[in-house]
Amino acid sequence: MKHLSPSILASDLLNLGNEIKKIEASGAQYVHIDIMDGCFVPNISFGMPIISAVRRTTELVLDVHAMIVEPQRYIDDFIKCGADIITFHIEAVNDTIAKEIIEKIKTNGKKVGISIKPKTPASAVLPYVEMIDMVLVMTVEPGFGGQKFMNETMPKITEIREYADKIGKKLDIEVDGGINDTTIAIAGKAGANIFVLGTGFFKSEAPVVAEEILAKAE
Ligand code: DX5
Ligand code: ZN
Repeated sequence: MKHLSPSILASDLLNLGNEIKKIEASGAQYVHIDIMDGCFVPNISFGMPIISAVRRTTELVLDVHAMIVEPQRYIDDFIKCGADIITFHIEAVNDTIAKEIIEKIKTNGKKVGISIKPKTPASAVLPYVEMIDMVLVMTVEPGFGGQKFMNETMPKITEIREYADKIGKKLDIEVDGGINDTTIAIAGKAGANIFVLGTGFFKSEAPVVAEEILAKAE
């Protein structure tokens, strides 16, 4: 199943309620919420109050992308604030902690994702594929919206998709960074099925229609 996950990092935060309505009107079913701590990435975005505020205003799937060090310290808070999918970065944890986080999120009935930065190989995430719901392959260096899509990350998507198919795992693969009507087709062809759209959604002149843009992904 293909999904669009508009990222509120590119939205007008002063009018967040209306921006969420725009997402609903587009037919998208997810809201992508980028949590940045100024440490794992060189930028600070927002945290728990924003997740809670979005939760109060919509029933869309809250897709929380934690770009933070020591993500294990905040899993309970993400759950309490109403996150539906919680994605952490494999570069921020060791194997024991990764497994503890996966277990905690699953025990609470939420979905768990693991993200890899552009320079992190697919092999870093393959050992966890069987245990998780989603892999988020970053298609830009995490930290900022509006960057250029990195084509060179595509083989990793195909590698992860082929591995998931081989072990019979129904896995979501999300791409994040520089997705637009052209790059969505490239990422879809590589094997991705969830597409984050920040600039491409909120800065687009014509309102985005989820069904139309998703049709461009194979
Ligand atoms: C970048 C974030 C992205 C960002 C994408 O670190 O993880 O979710 O919002 O923005 P665009 O679509 O503008 O590249
Ligand atoms: Zn993101």
